[in-house]
Amino acid sequence: MTESTVAPAPPAAVIVLAAGAGTRMKSKTPKILHPLGGTSMIGHALAAAAGLNPRELVAVVRHQRDLVAEHITSLSESLGTTPTIADQDEVPGTGRAVQCGLEALPTAQNVTGTVVVTYGDVPLLTTELLGELVGRHEAEGNAVTVLTALLDDPTGYGRILRDEAGSVAGIVEHKDATDEQRLINEVNSGIYAFDGAVLTSALAQVTTDNAQGEMYLTDVLSIARAAGGRVATVATQDRWQVEGANDRVQLAALGAEMNRRTVIAHMRAGTTVQDPATTWIDATVTLEPDTTILPNTHLQGATHIAEDAVVGPDTTLVDTTVGTGARVTRTQAAGAVIGAGAAVGPFTYIRPGTVLGEEGKIGAFYETKNVTVGRGSKLSHLGYAGDAEIGEHTNIGCGNITANYDGVNKHRTVIGDHVRTSSNTVFIAPVTIGDGAYTGAGAVVRKDVPAGALALTVAPQRNSEGWTEERRPGSPAAEAAARARSEKPDAGA
Ligand code: UD1
Ligand code: CA
Repeated sequence: MTESTVAPAPPAAVIVLAAGAGTRMKSKTPKILHPLGGTSMIGHALAAAAGLNPRELVAVVRHQRDLVAEHITSLSESLGTTPTIADQDEVPGTGRAVQCGLEALPTAQNVTGTVVVTYGDVPLLTTELLGELVGRHEAEGNAVTVLTALLDDPTGYGRILRDEAGSVAGIVEHKDATDEQRLINEVNSGIYAFDGAVLTSALAQVTTDNAQGEMYLTDVLSIARAAGGRVATVATQDRWQVEGANDRVQLAALGAEMNRRTVIAHMRAGTTVQDPATTWIDATVTLEPDTTILPNTHLQGATHIAEDAVVGPDTTLVDTTVGTGARVTRTQAAGAVIGAGAAVGPFTYIRPGTVLGEEGKIGAFYETKNVTVGRGSKLSHLGYAGDAEIGEHTNIGCGNITANYDGVNKHRTVIGDHVRTSSNTVFIAPVTIGDGAYTGAGAVVRKDVPAGALALTVAPQRNSEGWTEERRPGSPAAEAAARARSEKPDAGA
């Protein structure tokens, strides 16, 4: 990939084509809404386009129009701009799609400046490569500059036709090409920079007289050239950036390549990734330097991991913030905040609204939801905490449960600082435990516990001597009990 040196001026418009049906996905979901790297295909395409800061960002839609348009509009905030939705009519073809896109521009009657055309199903294309295309287009004063690639197998693509002098003469579609033309392996990526005025007037001359009965955008090149315009190419060595996903096999390949690039970028920026092949990181995730990601870890959405934190193995974090030096092992978490120096896992299910304070711990086989755990507090083993607030330096014993749901409504459990709860305490919410309080093992806490009190709810233990031999005579248990008594006559007395 060549580096673009100077950032070009913002183009007049980028038109992203997204009207196609995508039938090969065999899906009720529109093709361009299928996700990879945590964002839809069209989301990636629009982000690359928006990166050029065009005066107008247009998406041309038709197939499953409302679903697609709604999704595109929902991306506005993350794109930093609201794309204009243009509807393609029943005239088929990329040329008609671009024409419909141009008609949606406020300057439709007089389009000047550079108009970029890209596809909604080419998710790995970057702003950098688009910028290089626009930069070369404008520096060379071209009428059309087309992004091309040299492919070992160019089947299906439009081929770049050149004259004796090597200048671009036009593009022929695979279906319209002669056997000789099909030997050409320089292909049209479908991504272009156009002079807006040339594009508008050339499209007015494009017909549907071809093998597919469509208005081909590619015909603009030969029309522009015949009118005396300069038509040139920018060739990319990086075929992934121009590759579209037409079916789920290609979608998986593009997804894996996108992830490979994302993971490499994080490693170059200072993250240790022990096993890149099993580490999946969404494009939206942010990692500080000196983080460590262990195998089979999936980081998704708005997840952020701070310095010196170690995450994984076998961990999925969605929209979760992990603080400096925290340790998250074999955990599934979503919508959570894990404090600096805290520890989570192994085998822990952290649900939205969980906020674990600094140096806190949520240990093995715990499920949490909507719970704030104060600094240094520990929920170490086997339990459920939901709709609860736990103070600082409190220790929740093994197997504790906040019974937050009465079958109709959810209620809160509030536990203070420096509380010690014994094993198998059940908090019947709403209930409040004061600072420094204790609970006895197996307590079922229905009433508030004042600060410093010990709450016991289980009846004192009573031993019925000789019960087993009397009530289970002849059983192995009774025989064992008899043996024990004869060996140690005082045992248990
Ligand atoms: C097109 C190019 C071909 C190029 C190839 C690269 C034309 C005539 N051919 O072929 O030279 O090598 O892309 O992938 O342009 N679309 C619309 N409306 C339409 C038709 C298509 O919006 O009426 C959109 C599709 O959603 C898609 C893109 O345009 O995003 C390309 O359409 P597709 O049918 O895949 O074009 P190809 O025939 O592959
Ligand atoms: Ca295609």
